[in-house]
Amino acid sequence: MADTNHIHKVAVVGASGQVGSTILKHLLESPKDFKVTVVTRTDSTATFPSNPKVTVKKGSYTDGPFLQEAFKDQDVVIFALHFMAQSAQIGMIDEAAKAGVKWIVPNEYAGDGMNKAMAEGVPVFVPKKQAREHIDELSKTHEGLAWIGVATNPFFEPFLIKSSKIFGIDAESQKATIYPDGGAFNSSTMDRIGLAVTRMLSLPISDHSNSRASLQHYANNFLYVSSFCVTQKQILQAFQKAKGESEADWKVSEDKTVKQWVRECQEGLKAGNMQAGWGLTMCYYMGEGMGGNYQEKAEQDHKILGVQEEDFEKAVKRALSA
Ligand SMILES: NC(=O)c1ccc[n+]([C@@H]2O[C@H](COP(=O)([O-])OP(=O)(O)OC[C@H]3O[C@@H](n4cnc5c(N)ncnc54)[C@H](OP(=O)(O)O)[C@@H]3O)[C@@H](O)[C@H]2O)c1
Repeated sequence: MADTNHIHKVAVVGASGQVGSTILKHLLESPKDFKVTVVTRTDSTATFPSNPKVTVKKGSYTDGPFLQEAFKDQDVVIFALHFMAQSAQIGMIDEAAKAGVKWIVPNEYAGDGMNKAMAEGVPVFVPKKQAREHIDELSKTHEGLAWIGVATNPFFEPFLIKSSKIFGIDAESQKATIYPDGGAFNSSTMDRIGLAVTRMLSLPISDHSNSRASLQHYANNFLYVSSFCVTQKQILQAFQKAKGESEADWKVSEDKTVKQWVRECQEGLKAGNMQAGWGLTMCYYMGEGMGGNYQEKAEQDHKILGVQEEDFEKAVKRALSA
C-alpha cells in the first residue's frame, strides 16, 4: 500500500541556484528515494544531474498550463529563486495550489520570519512575508495547503565569509568594525541548508506519538537551519587564525553602534537609497536582541533532524581557501 504519511514527490524551482542546488543534491542522496521534478526557465542555461530520480521541466514561470502540469501530483513545491525572480513566485504558488499541492516551501532562506519586528523591519524580507500571507489566504479555499519557512540567516561561505566586509570584517585591508551592541547570530553553510531541508521533508507528515518530529509541526511555521551561532569577534579571531595573522596586524574600531547604523539606513531608505535596505538586513542579523540569534529554536530542530553544530574554525578556513 502507498505510504501516504511521507513526502515522495518534490518539485524544485530554481534547482540550479545556490540554495536550489544544495537541496537537489541532498534530495538525490537521501535514502528516502525522493522523485524530483526540476522546474526551470525555457531560456535557462542551467544543467542538472542526469539521474533517474530527476525529471526536468522547462517552461515559463508565468505559463499557467505549463506550471499546472509540472506541479501535478507533487507533494511539495520548493521555491529557491534568484532574488530578482521573487516576483514570479506568487503566480507560481497560485498554480501549485490549483494543481493540488499541499506543501509549499517558499523563497525564504533568510532571517526568522516568525520575528515580527525583523520580518517587517528588513525591506528585503517584506515580499517573503507577503508570500506566506498569500498562502495563508489560499489555504482558505485549498484545504490542507501549508507553507514551511526555512530560516538560514546569512549564508556562511558565499556571504558571511566571502563578503565579510559587509559584516564589519575587511580581510583585505585588515580593518574591522566591531559593534559594541552586536550579539551572536546564526549562520548556515550551503551544505547544511540542503541537508536540513531534506531531513525535514523526510519526517512523517503526522506522528501522534511525537508531533514535534512530524511535518505537521512545520506547517505554517519555520525550520531553523544553523551551522554556527557566533559573534563578530569570534569571526574576526577565526579569520586571524586561518590566515596566520595576529591581533596586532588588524586595526579594530569599536566606536560605531548597530543602533546608529539602523538610523542611518532608515534615513537612507527615506531618501530612496536601496543599499540602505540591504544594510538593515545586516543590522538585524548582528544587533543584539534584534532577531539574528535563533539558537534555541535551531537546537530544537537539530535534535529532530539529527544534526549538530559544525566546527566553526575549520569551516572558516575551508571557505577562505575555496
Ligand atoms: N541568507 C542569505 O545570505 C542569502 C543570500 C542570497 C540569497 N538569499 C535568498 O535565497 C533565495 C535564493 O537565492 P540563491 O542565491 O539560491 O538564488 P540564485 O542562485 O541567484 O538563483 C536561483 C535560480 O533562480 C532562477 N532564476 C530565475 N530568474 C532568474 C534571473 N532573472 N536571474 C538569475 N536566475 C534566475 C535560476 O534558475 P533557472 O535558471 O533554473 O530558472 C537560478 O538558478 C533568494 O531569493 C534570497 O531570498 C539569501
